[in-house]
Amino acid sequence: MAARTVLITGSNGLLGDKVLARAVGRYRVTGISAAPCVNPEHGDFTFRQVDIRDRDAVMRVMHETRPDVVLHTAAMTNVDGCERDPETAWAVNAMGTMHLADACVQTGARMVLLSTDYVFDGEHGPYREDDRPRAISAYGRSKLAAEQTTAATCEDYAIARTSVLYGWSPHARTNFVTWLAGELRAGKEVKVVTDQTSSATLADNLADMVLALGEVDAQGTFHTCGGDWLSRYELALRIVRLFQLDGGLIIPIETAELRQPAPRPKHSGMVAERILEATGVRPLSTDEGLAAFKRSWKAARP
Ligand SMILES: NC(=O)c1ccc[n+]([C@@H]2O[C@H](COP(=O)([O-])OP(=O)(O)OC[C@H]3O[C@@H](n4cnc5c(N)ncnc54)[C@H](OP(=O)(O)O)[C@@H]3O)[C@@H](O)[C@H]2O)c1
Repeated sequence: MAARTVLITGSNGLLGDKVLARAVGRYRVTGISAAPCVNPEHGDFTFRQVDIRDRDAVMRVMHETRPDVVLHTAAMTNVDGCERDPETAWAVNAMGTMHLADACVQTGARMVLLSTDYVFDGEHGPYREDDRPRAISAYGRSKLAAEQTTAATCEDYAIARTSVLYGWSPHARTNFVTWLAGELRAGKEVKVVTDQTSSATLADNLADMVLALGEVDAQGTFHTCGGDWLSRYELALRIVRLFQLDGGLIIPIETAELRQPAPRPKHSGMVAERILEATGVRPLSTDEGLAAFKRSWKAARP
């Protein structure tokens, strides 16, 4: 049966905004986020300002809206912020997910949880769906707990792990691609690490995968990321080529030089093996994703 009512958590965020834009008109949609609604232009949907740390508020919105599917994109996503404040990271990412998982069981909803390649330690990437996770940061541990809670609680669920999200949205905070393109266009030097690999993912492509996962009966974990495995430095060079920017402004460095609070998995990134067969949505390559990003970026800033 096709889903008719969808609840999107984190509808103000980069991914949530893309999911919302696609869902409105196809489903009866409720968006929830911590702050007031930033994207009413998407049309006919209901917005509720809900902090997912508040169990009663989560239960209330779930019982009142009775969604067939919850697309749970909300999270505390600032990796260093999570390291500095692990209690809040745990409360939002682990406990908030537990509240939604419990509510899904009570109301009979399917849960699609967004997760991350930061559940892995980065020793042996790229990772497949059945590789054993071992998180090395507060963010990674809180998201791994969210995965475990979902798997242990929900009768009908999919976990969608993604990696280094990028995309254009007038509402979203800066991501690696918008930051790099913006700095280089302004003629500024930027430091980019050579020793972290990932599978950069276009938010629009991920939104298609997430909505499709809401529709199918497939259970378990799915890697929903871009189709390549590149260092940040190589990704930066692809952006330079596509936007015809000055690559001489990029200074290659190693992660340790950044002295960030949270350790990063070095050889992270994933192989997306199951998603195409489960949903029919193909993960885009980096070059395909960046080309699509460029089209939306140019359309928005002619
Ligand atoms: N960004 C990446 O590179 C990346 C990589 C791997 C996995 N992921 C995962 O992908 C998902 C989407 O990421 P994103 O980049 O789209 O995130 P984002 O832009 O940072 O948006 C996160 C959303 O979560 C909401 N939120 C945060 N705390 C909340 C709370 N206590 N109660 C209710 N809502 C809350 C925020 O609401 P307000 O805006 O209203 O405050 C925001 O709308 C996340 O689950 C993330 O862990 C992201």
